[in-house]
Amino acid sequence: MSPDLIAALNKQANRELSTSNLFRTLAYWADAEHLGGFAKFFATQAEEEEDHAKKFYQYLTDRGTVPSVGPVEAAKTSYEGLLEIANLLYAHERENTKCIHALYEVALSTKDYATQVFLHAFITEQVEEESWTDKLLTKVKQTACGGALFSLDRHISKELLGSD
Ligand SMILES: [Fe+2]
Ligand SMILES: [Fe+2]
Repeated sequence: MSPDLIAALNKQANRELSTSNLFRTLAYWADAEHLGGFAKFFATQAEEEEDHAKKFYQYLTDRGTVPSVGPVEAAKTSYEGLLEIANLLYAHERENTKCIHALYEVALSTKDYATQVFLHAFITEQVEEESWTDKLLTKVKQTACGGALFSLDRHISKELLGSD
């Protein structure tokens, strides 16, 4: 693979790992706020993002490059509430889509067909990530008043992904 493509793949791998770190932190934040549903949901997202990072690292290895794992910056630990988090995740996933597309451009310009195919799953995954973060933002805005937050917390996984 071209050095540019290797660097771009490694950068995205570390971005996936740092996204996992962010979700892991949000899971602990939600737990501390006694929002058990969100804690579970964010923990599941943390695992999913770690899986994404591992897929990139394994792909680099399979193509003959030992990946440079990390370092990962710590996510911030204090948030005003779920609205701040929902806004942050909405922006984060849209930014991530741009990063995946930029990486795909490198695979196109270097004519690396295997990497293009490898990235298709991530391009598709971003459609799902943008969709649930959009729903999350809408739902959190709807809970601005009353006990609606506790009901959302109980059903968050089902609301966003259709599964408990
Ligand atoms: Fe991801
Ligand atoms: Fe996902």
